[in-house]
Amino acid sequence: MIDIAVFFGGCSSEYGVSLQSACGVINALDKRKYNVLKIWITREGKWFLYQGDTDEIAADSRNEKLSFPVILPQNKGKKKILVLKDGKHEEIKIDLAFPVMHGKNGEDGTLQGLLQLAGIPAAGCGTLSSALCMDKYRAHKIAAAEGIAVPKTVLISSIEETKKAERFAAETGFPVFVKPLRAGSSFGISKVFSPEQLFSSLQSAFSFDSAAVIEENIDGFEAGCAVVGSRRLIFGAVDMITLCGGFFDYNEKYTLGTAKITVPAPLDDETAEAVRQTAGRIYRALDCEGFARVDMFVKKDGGIVFNEVNTIPGFTPHSRFPKMMEAAGYSMTETLDLIIKEALK
Ligand SMILES: Nc1ncnc2c1ncn2[C@@H]1O[C@H](COP(=O)(O)OP(=O)(O)O)[C@@H](O)[C@H]1O
Ligand SMILES: [Mg+2]
Repeated sequence: MIDIAVFFGGCSSEYGVSLQSACGVINALDKRKYNVLKIWITREGKWFLYQGDTDEIAADSRNEKLSFPVILPQNKGKKKILVLKDGKHEEIKIDLAFPVMHGKNGEDGTLQGLLQLAGIPAAGCGTLSSALCMDKYRAHKIAAAEGIAVPKTVLISSIEETKKAERFAAETGFPVFVKPLRAGSSFGISKVFSPEQLFSSLQSAFSFDSAAVIEENIDGFEAGCAVVGSRRLIFGAVDMITLCGGFFDYNEKYTLGTAKITVPAPLDDETAEAVRQTAGRIYRALDCEGFARVDMFVKKDGGIVFNEVNTIPGFTPHSRFPKMMEAAGYSMTETLDLIIKEALK
């Protein structure tokens, strides 16, 4: 049996999404091979080994009596966590950590760094790639240096920089996208159509992070590609998001009220292959390992523009990453096996 600690929750605006993803992963892990430990990190940042049911995670109803405080000792090589129970501490062996955290303090390299210090191997991207992919501005800079097309963009480091924002929007033309520099699930993102909306959209972006980016609008549709592996890459099917006006905001992402996700995307073989190739180049450029979902835009002329890499994409059975892998012939259980095998190498 391999002992796998699934980490979820965390101090992030995507806390709730992480709970749902974690349930997806926990339910799909092959229990004949893996002994699953659930590490529940609260919104306040308290760590617990959770011995309650997975259903309680989905409902965010943590039972205090089944929650035991956890510490990661910086004790390289021991591969153990410390659990406090009844006034005593117990050492529990972990073969692999599987962070299923979205956004800040989990997907951004911080947890990955902590696990590295503790000598516990972790599934997925390491510290550098996690941090880079979380930063929408720097990820674009590095991809662009590798010859990948990216939207025109400007970094807004303080809410005072309204002139810089206005200048960029005037030069680029409306609409523009205003985003928190490091967030996810479309939190704090606005599609802005006029100079009057710029300030309030920046305020909204700054309520999620201490910096923001403004990007030109890319005309076309969004396509994603699941990538698994490190040296040798396995690609999922490419998907396509069809929008009914607006953009892929939080509401559309989780209700699909008017937006539609098609997987595999109805693209000709050449375009689908170009999307996969570009996903692979972006994955390598940003030093990704293990797995990630690479999101791009496909323009009307077939040009492919980088949007973002989600180093820990949504993992519910309805999420895009598992669906893309499924369409390529890998069930979620098989995908997790591939990821785990890679991480234990
Ligand atoms: N430059 C852009 N051009 C066109 N649409 C965009 C652009 N940037 C973002 N969007 C839209 O906004 C959504 C959310 O933006 P994204 O950068 O992917 O943020 P998140 O990390 O929150 O998913 C995208 O799925 C897309 O619909
Ligand atoms: Mg996105």
